[in-house]
Amino acid sequence: MEVPEAAPAAAAGVEAEGMSGGKGSWYVLGKRAVLVPYLREHVPRYHEWMQDPALLEATASEPLSLEQEFDVHRSWTLDPFKHTFIVLDKELIGGEFAPGNPHTEAMVGDVNIYMNDPDDMQLAEIEIMIAEHKSRGKGIGQEVILLMMAFAVEKYGIATFRAKISESNMASLKLFRKLGFKDASYSAVFKEVTLEVPADELQLRFPLTVGDW
Ligand SMILES: CC(C)(COP(=O)(O)OP(=O)(O)OC[C@H]1O[C@@H](n2cnc3c(N)ncnc32)[C@H](O)[C@@H]1OP(=O)(O)O)[C@@H](O)C(=O)NCCC(=O)NCCS
Repeated sequence: MEVPEAAPAAAAGVEAEGMSGGKGSWYVLGKRAVLVPYLREHVPRYHEWMQDPALLEATASEPLSLEQEFDVHRSWTLDPFKHTFIVLDKELIGGEFAPGNPHTEAMVGDVNIYMNDPDDMQLAEIEIMIAEHKSRGKGIGQEVILLMMAFAVEKYGIATFRAKISESNMASLKLFRKLGFKDASYSAVFKEVTLEVPADELQLRFPLTVGDW
């Protein structure tokens, strides 16, 4: 993960856009999980997760200071080509889910899409992390990827999804292949498999339950 330079002018823009970078601000409700905007309140816990060497390796990330993590949060919020949600495990939410409440007690991971192919703005790279071990193996990862892809089709008109996964990350490879992603290429340098799937070959469920944050 690259550490962005501080961008005070852009930061002022974020305040003006209500911390959404002009992208809008939504939550997405699933059966097991809720996707909520990545807020400043989530950063300290996120930073704790990213001290774990196994998670750093699985997500191809570098360890950052807390200050750098806040800078990354700010840059993700501003980036019009990136959309990040924090994943809440519904079983861990204290009381009822309430839009506007960061529910840090229930945050267990994150999911991103990144429209990073300048030749194809309808292609999105997708990344998922269920950092909290207690919330793994419950079907949350699978549900979250499907929710995020349905959201990306609906809000960004995405037509193709791509995932880059380390060849040693068997859990993630199995998950993406199970959902219909096919191997597209392999990088011997990065020891990484690139998988892709056209959106119209996915079993996405509509309508999504999306609400204003
Ligand atoms: C990979 C990861 C997202 C899976 O999340 P999860 O919520 O535990 O996964 P689910 O419970 O939804 O499992 C869905 C499917 O994924 C696969 N899977 C998940 N964990 C697995 C494991 N430990 N071993 C093998 N397959 C696994 C299985 O196919 C499973 O379906 P099944 O139960 O019908 O066999 C999670 O382990 C994780 O975040 N790991 C660290 C970060 C990472 O690797 N991110 C991916 C980088 S692209």
